[in-house]
Amino acid sequence: MFDAQTQARLEEEAAQILSRYPTGHERSALLPLLHLVQSVDGYVSADGITFCAEQLDITRAEVSAVATFYTQYKRHPNGDFNVGVCTNALCAVMGGDQIYEALEGHLGVGHDETTADGKITLERLECNAACDYAPVVMVNWEFFDNQTPESAIALVDDITAGKDVQPTRGPHKVRTFKEISHLLAGFEDGLVDEGPSAGEASLRGLNIAQQHEWAAPVQAAPDATGDDAPPHAGEHGSSADRPAVTPEDKGGNGQ
Ligand code: FES
Repeated sequence: MFDAQTQARLEEEAAQILSRYPTGHERSALLPLLHLVQSVDGYVSADGITFCAEQLDITRAEVSAVATFYTQYKRHPNGDFNVGVCTNALCAVMGGDQIYEALEGHLGVGHDETTADGKITLERLECNAACDYAPVVMVNWEFFDNQTPESAIALVDDITAGKDVQPTRGPHKVRTFKEISHLLAGFEDGLVDEGPSAGEASLRGLNIAQQHEWAAPVQAAPDATGDDAPPHAGEHGSSADRPAVTPEDKGGNGQ
């Protein structure tokens, strides 16, 4: 059981979350509710599962089935800072595996394990949709781009020393795992507009298109005869009809 004060706050916030969903579809609120209870204990505790089940009038087994499916929900106490190293394909070939191994050796913990001081949980992550900044590390879901083993070790040393760490893209500092869990439950922390939303690498294709005044062709909806079908390769209007991108377009080094 949560203490009375915590229970009252959770019930009030759970009511706010449920009010975002159409009548009859409240059980779709389970995902933010799991983040909400995670913001209290730092993981989805037995009390948290019971709370979610009671709020949605579903079984604890149904809550557990969801909580165990998604890796963002932790089944044992998480560190204050979840340090995730992307070791998916592109980050791996760009050095993600070396970063993970360096942190594993430096921190003395493995995947989904937490340092003795409770500050850092290390995790291997799948693709974070930030491949243009590979290899990336995420601390509580904030991006640290273009990392190296050395920069990643400096990052966790700062966290261990209690210093604020600032993501490459995002707010001026990374909040704790519990604070981020509360944000993911849908409660704004006032920092959402801090930092750049897209970096130079993500915008390069757009910039090239704008320089060349390229735009996506406007297609009419296909008619019943199929006469308005999109052009095939080699036909006028197809993507192959466009001029080739030059090394200068790519930044001058052909990369
Ligand atoms: S492979 Fe690491 S962000 Fe995509």
